[in-house]
Amino acid sequence: MTSQPLWHGRFANKTNPDAFALNASISFDILMAEQDVRGSIAWAEAICKADVLDEAEHTQISAGLRQILQEIRQDTFTVTPDDEDIHTAVERRLGEIIGSLSGKLHTGRSRNDQVATDFRLWMLDHIPALDAALVDLQSALVERAERDLILPPSGGDVRRTKGGNDGKPVIMPGYTHLQRAQPVLLSQWWLSHYPPLKRDQARLSELSRRVAVLPLGCGALAGCPYPIDRVALSETLGFDEPAMNSLDAVSNRDFAAEFLFVAAMIGTHLSKIAEQVILFTSAEFGFFELDDVYSTGSSLMPQKKNADPFELTRGKAGTLLGYLTGLMATLKGLPSTYDKDLQEDKLPVFAAFDTLTAMLPVIAGALRTLTVKPARMEAAIDASMMATDLADYLVQRGVPFREAHAISGEVVRAGIDKQKPLNELTLEEYQTINEVFDEEVYAVYDARESIAKRAAIGGTAPDAVKAQIERAKAELKRET
Ligand code: ARG
Repeated sequence: MTSQPLWHGRFANKTNPDAFALNASISFDILMAEQDVRGSIAWAEAICKADVLDEAEHTQISAGLRQILQEIRQDTFTVTPDDEDIHTAVERRLGEIIGSLSGKLHTGRSRNDQVATDFRLWMLDHIPALDAALVDLQSALVERAERDLILPPSGGDVRRTKGGNDGKPVIMPGYTHLQRAQPVLLSQWWLSHYPPLKRDQARLSELSRRVAVLPLGCGALAGCPYPIDRVALSETLGFDEPAMNSLDAVSNRDFAAEFLFVAAMIGTHLSKIAEQVILFTSAEFGFFELDDVYSTGSSLMPQKKNADPFELTRGKAGTLLGYLTGLMATLKGLPSTYDKDLQEDKLPVFAAFDTLTAMLPVIAGALRTLTVKPARMEAAIDASMMATDLADYLVQRGVPFREAHAISGEVVRAGIDKQKPLNELTLEEYQTINEVFDEEVYAVYDARESIAKRAAIGGTAPDAVKAQIERAKAELKRET
């Protein structure tokens, strides 16, 4: 059956084919086919209760819609070139199945409240998959933190440190400004990426509550003239409540913008991990080595092993941010209620969802399987990274911190002048700078001691890190 546009009555001539193609959204809103039909099944029930349909009509319409739902699920539902959007396609198919009675389904409804409902249903259906992927990446980080806490018996570089035990925590340089700053546990670094993803997950669940507000029953803009029960309709469709105001309900796309913000934020967090993995797998750092299955080579340079998944992650974070700014720019100029500009809301949301659900498992897999190089990481810690500890040593001997900071700075300068690491300056050299220095100064340069001192909640001391691991594990357990 070829169909006319749902709005054909007022028009004498058929739409220009190019204008039709520009107008059409079927190529992407087909992804909401299932949600569209579920919305229609609930709508048919609502208008039956409001006496728009009698029982027999409702039964027929509902059976036809259920058949379409089956066709969609079995992938046998097809669209025709005349289907402008998914709403048109479903109504056309219903007509093919039950005849002209299908024309009663749209009573009291507009595609404006319909599309907003479909889109929200789609989002509610898809947020759990994103949530699960986030949880899995969090688990990967916590697994790594636990596994990489202690050096394996052999020490040195081993494939996938297994957390065997000679009692020595795996340490690395911590950076600020990408300059060596203070030593930290590798596990502290792994765990640093857990809370951001936890916050993203919280953002998603808060967003879900705002998505679960039902536009259906608001008509084109002014409300529904039939006595439908919007509270019951909202419950049937799994929403928390009906939208309060019809003008707002049909134009509100805050949820799409919020989704894109959360997606961009997740992208930013992943990009931050990615940037560091890219650095750490470079020969210059040599802290990590990616498993072959998560890296790629060069068509020209046989020696190359590239961190492509991480570079793509860093790149796609920019694209995700673009989706957010694009939709915000679209929304900011709109007057109240539905404008066709709003059709631009779906592609970025679908694309952001696809991007993240493709990226997250790869990142999790690559992190789970990469090899850490404890010896390389430890070798990158130099004595000057304990300059703060040196100041603390002076503070313990009664020197006010500000003064201790300056003295410690002089020691650093002496090291640079004499081209010696700080722990190789002689005691005389120390005492020329300040007579407070004694033999015990050399103990300051034990990076593990420096780490062990940072034992307050959230710090990098092994016990403080173990506490973080336990907390994260308990949180993750609640997710499953
Ligand atoms: N394809 C449209 C969209 O995605 C559906 C709503 C059309 N409404 C209208 N008044 N033309 O936004």
